[in-house]
Amino acid sequence: MAQVHAIEVAISCGAVGIELELCRSGAEAWARDTGNRVKIVSTPNDSNERLALYQQLFATGSKEIDVFQIDVIWPGTLADHLIDLRSYTKGAETEHVDFLVENNTINGELKALPWFLDLGLLYYRTDLLEAYGQQPPRTWEELTRTATLIQEAERSKEYPRMWGYVWQGRAYEGLTCNALEWLASQNGGRIVDENGSVTVANPRAAAAIDRAASWVGSITPPGVLNYAEEDARGIFQSGNAVFMRNWPYAWSLAQGSDSPVRGKVGVAPLPASGDGQSSAALGGWQLAVSRYSTNPEAAASLALYLTGAAEQKRRAIEGSFNPTRQSLYKDSEIIAANPLFAKLGPILKSVVARPSTTLGSFYSRVSAEFWQTVHTVLAGQETAEPALERLQGRLEALRRRR
Ligand code: GLC
Repeated sequence: MAQVHAIEVAISCGAVGIELELCRSGAEAWARDTGNRVKIVSTPNDSNERLALYQQLFATGSKEIDVFQIDVIWPGTLADHLIDLRSYTKGAETEHVDFLVENNTINGELKALPWFLDLGLLYYRTDLLEAYGQQPPRTWEELTRTATLIQEAERSKEYPRMWGYVWQGRAYEGLTCNALEWLASQNGGRIVDENGSVTVANPRAAAAIDRAASWVGSITPPGVLNYAEEDARGIFQSGNAVFMRNWPYAWSLAQGSDSPVRGKVGVAPLPASGDGQSSAALGGWQLAVSRYSTNPEAAASLALYLTGAAEQKRRAIEGSFNPTRQSLYKDSEIIAANPLFAKLGPILKSVVARPSTTLGSFYSRVSAEFWQTVHTVLAGQETAEPALERLQGRLEALRRRR
């Protein structure tokens, strides 16, 4: 192999759960195959912090990172700094689910390849539900009841630290995902509609957020106000919660050989309320190549390798990362390794996207305003109705000024 000509490609990877390890082993396999070298750059876990870092790098035309792991909500925001991958893909994008390819196509240019897909799931303790004769809840009211019942009963036995429900309540992008699920599952809209009109101030949305606020300190630890994905997983996986809202990656970790809840975990669609339907926020990550990369061809080759079928299959088996390639959902080895995948069909139908395609680069501002408002309600500083009214006014003013 022509090692003297080896090129170094730097890739930014997330580090939630075993993400970084999987990214490293995948990228190193590509390096071995091609005779190139890779440098793995670990980035902050909170999506919005990662975006801020990327924007700083892009603003200076930094050549430090060639391949960027980008959130499903960012193609519109980062498009100007990313190359069109179509000249490298030879049509490979057609093997991925259409809506992600559409999401990643800006002004006709393919700005990123889908890598893995996320959707909000309700995790529960099968052993506890069985012991108390309970079913996975279909409504938020049922969830509240079952969580309270089991939490109180367990506390009165030998588990004083048991909580009913853990989720993500920190003031960050993950709270936008949780709160969007509360709104959508109560027929309370999606913050803005398809035309970009602000819809957030409505009684159903307010009721959904007030309900979530009522969990804090009752079935949910007060610390939730600072929980991201890994904080919720830590509590659930150590056996201290009945229910958890999280993404698919938590499945393989909760079922890992060293997990105290191994063999006691079930997954269900998130509950709904009133005339609403179960709603799972759509998340996920893509791989994009920087316009400032000095080796776009090698960078695109790495992105294609990592988003390829073999690598997505390995990640699905080892880390329960959802493939973005349709054909892998029928793969018997993946389903055998992670029975979770057999359950995702109906949940995939209930996916709700954040309004990032409607809002483009304006999305991150809207999301930040939304999560800050929800956070003040969760913290008990005000009730949802006046908070959402004010948010509505602010978002409308921002929209007019754009
Ligand atoms: C997950 C999702 C991503 C989302 C983030 C919020 O990483 O894949 O889309 O923005 O969680 O915390």
